[in-house]
Amino acid sequence: MDQGKMHMQVLTTIAELSRWLASATPPTGFVPTMGFLHKGHLSLVRRARDENEMVIVSIFVNPTQFGPNEDFQDYPRDLSRDLGVLEEARVDAVFTPTVDDIYPSGASTMIEVESLSNILEGASRPGHFRGVATVVCKLFHVVQPNRAYFGEKDYQQLQVIRRMVHDLHMPVEVVGCPTIREPDGLAMSSRHVYLSQPQREAAVALPQALFRAKQLCIEGEHDVAKLQAEVHHRLANEPLIRPDYMAIVHPYTLQPLASVGLEGAVLCLAVWIGKTRLIDNIRLGDG
Ligand code: PAJ
Repeated sequence: MDQGKMHMQVLTTIAELSRWLASATPPTGFVPTMGFLHKGHLSLVRRARDENEMVIVSIFVNPTQFGPNEDFQDYPRDLSRDLGVLEEARVDAVFTPTVDDIYPSGASTMIEVESLSNILEGASRPGHFRGVATVVCKLFHVVQPNRAYFGEKDYQQLQVIRRMVHDLHMPVEVVGCPTIREPDGLAMSSRHVYLSQPQREAAVALPQALFRAKQLCIEGEHDVAKLQAEVHHRLANEPLIRPDYMAIVHPYTLQPLASVGLEGAVLCLAVWIGKTRLIDNIRLGDG
């Protein structure tokens, strides 16, 4: 890479972004985020860096994907730290639009991926995936990336985006990336800052329950009711954890399964620890 490209651009409006894109060299890889970046986000950035000429990261805490009683106002933000981390990761441009730029006054067009949005996470958070699909669609339109990178940590989100891109013939390749975990197995999340020390210690029961189910499946247990009972049991042993939902579903349709079949399955769960909601998932039966 020549020296001229080393300086990361911080673009705060769609107009600035468009001007910058006009002289960008394809292929471009895009990583949409809500900021407060951790190693999970950075794994996506690294993958994008490896596979593309230009890398663009967006930082935008999207109001439409938060419910009225959720943590939009409190969502952790640290733009200057994020910019330092992204510069270090040799990102070419960071897009940090305002809410007014993304949702111009009077905006009334929303994207709804009907078959995947009202189950699991969507049942607990009505309207969440409508907000996600809408903002990702808008970001794809303004960034026009060749590839876009999403984490399997948010497994349902990844499937919603894949479905939208397919249904709307969007010319972007969606790349799913593995979940990055803390040394004790907890999937990295910006929301961990909300946890007290005892809550953080309790949270390890999540990956432990998921890995136990995966192990049982490897040992030959394919019966969903039995696998779920084991996960329930493990979570019930941790008094600080309040389960929200847990389901073993088909990897693409996300419909509940009775047993783990040839196409494998995904165990998805969400729990409350105090006022913090955590999600995680693991693939079962895919070898
Ligand atoms: P955010 O939670 O900031 O996550 C941005 C991307 O990082 C998502 O694709 C997410 O799946 C991925 N990610 C988060 N934690 C990860 C981990 N531990 N391992 C691997 N990848 C991880 O997801 C969103 O933002 C928003 O919904 C967004 C797509 C930006 C739309 O507003």
